Amino acid sequence: MASPAFPLPLAPLVRRSRRAILRAGLPTPWPESPARQLHRWASDMDGLLGELAATGRPWTLDLWRQGWIAVFSSASARQRLQEADPETFGHANDLASLFVGPHSLLLKDGAEHRAGRRRTVGLVGAERLPVFGVAMRDATDEWLDRLEPDSTVPVLDGCQALTLDIILRTVFGLPPGPEHAALHRAGRGFMQAGRSVAGNLAALVLPTTVLRGLALGGESPGPMARLLGPVGTNLPGSAEGRHLMRRLRELIARRRASDSSRGSDVLSRLVAEGALSDDAIRDEVATLLLAGHDTTAVTLGWLLYRLGSRPDLWDALRMEIASCCGADGLVDPARLPRRGLLGACVRESLRLDGLTIGIVRRARRETTVDGFRIPAGTQVNALVRPRHLDPERWPDPERFDPHRMLGERPGPEDLAPFGAGYRRCVGASFATFEMLVVLAAIARRGRFVRPPDLVVDRRQYGAFPGPSNPIPMRWEPL
Ligand code: HEM
Repeated sequence: MASPAFPLPLAPLVRRSRRAILRAGLPTPWPESPARQLHRWASDMDGLLGELAATGRPWTLDLWRQGWIAVFSSASARQRLQEADPETFGHANDLASLFVGPHSLLLKDGAEHRAGRRRTVGLVGAERLPVFGVAMRDATDEWLDRLEPDSTVPVLDGCQALTLDIILRTVFGLPPGPEHAALHRAGRGFMQAGRSVAGNLAALVLPTTVLRGLALGGESPGPMARLLGPVGTNLPGSAEGRHLMRRLRELIARRRASDSSRGSDVLSRLVAEGALSDDAIRDEVATLLLAGHDTTAVTLGWLLYRLGSRPDLWDALRMEIASCCGADGLVDPARLPRRGLLGACVRESLRLDGLTIGIVRRARRETTVDGFRIPAGTQVNALVRPRHLDPERWPDPERFDPHRMLGERPGPEDLAPFGAGYRRCVGASFATFEMLVVLAAIARRGRFVRPPDLVVDRRQYGAFPGPSNPIPMRWEPL
């Protein structure tokens, strides 16, 4: 367990924070000062939560302006959040309001959330995947076309560019071209700027309206944004953020003016439906853009890294997809098996390297978890990563072994990389299918090989953990 570490003048504040946590009936306060906890949360969330879990008991973190977070690692707490009713446990996604407005699914609760979720499932859920498969495959093939044989490729960067490309094609209906390139540049610049410890700390410490106003200026609603916008023009990512949001607004207006009823992309469907305002549509597609590409890119990056030292698996994958190609020789996404080795590789990668550490909710009214009182407003984090690495459930858990997933249908109590319960990732089917298609398209053409001295660790990567470097690997076409 960590030892207390705080400057002496803060001692009375720290004592007061601890007394308040104990009086509230929450689990024991974590022994570091709130300032130290805040810094670790921003710079090494994985390490901090792993340390808590290793003690085998629940704790309460005090993240100052973010409030208290009760952290549990028991199976009963995971089940409690998985089965939680939306009136008791709502979202804990307040930080998403830095990027998206109030119409975003991430920021809705109760009946509004239920209705929004139904709509989003209808747009990117399992039933819609056949529409997107070809775009996912073509984007991958075009990426591979650009790679020099036997060159070293920063695979993580490649996956980020690829998954953003896929979102632009499938969600925005933008084929490659000048409009696509401009949004791609802005999206990448904006995400890149958000991946720093300083950015994380600013997001935790400053009021979101202030930060949003600084970052997005007039592209953010409210007088605060107009006031702060000019001040924030030179902040990293601010130019790209404003550009991105403005382009989205213009794109929606243009799509409204055109005949969008035949487009199968998400944006065209939303416009054709006619039920949402422009602001609501922008929040919906911006949510899918921001929640739906970096997450998948990081998972794919890890997967390629793990496969990079396993020529046996590349050979087996190639055999599996041999019967899934069309007359044109290309992978036919509709024929890819979900329960074969491809799917097993994806599930194993999500287990071993998934970016999700826990299921997080905010109590909307007073409740209990594992016998502890949880006051309204408190966040609860039921950790899933310790279960993903539990040797009792997954023998030799640090080993990448897709064969363990063959024929397995692990329930959310054992594998929950997309969270669980009524707010489980709405893009889970999209992401899983995308990884399947991308991996198949790569395996058809060659493989990425890991240099013997390449080591990639798990580090803070923006708001979640990710690889410690861009994963440089050699592209070896067949
Ligand atoms: C490997 C890739 C991905 C991972 C690991 C991931 C993980 C997650 C997690 C852990 C949550 C919170 C679940 C909970 O609170 O129980 C979530 C929510 C969400 N994700 Fe994903 N995600 C991924 C890809 C995607 C994609 C591709 C999209 C969209 C196309 C997407 C859109 C969303 C949205 C909109 C929510 C909010 C759902 C709600 O509040 O009802 N995600 N994701």
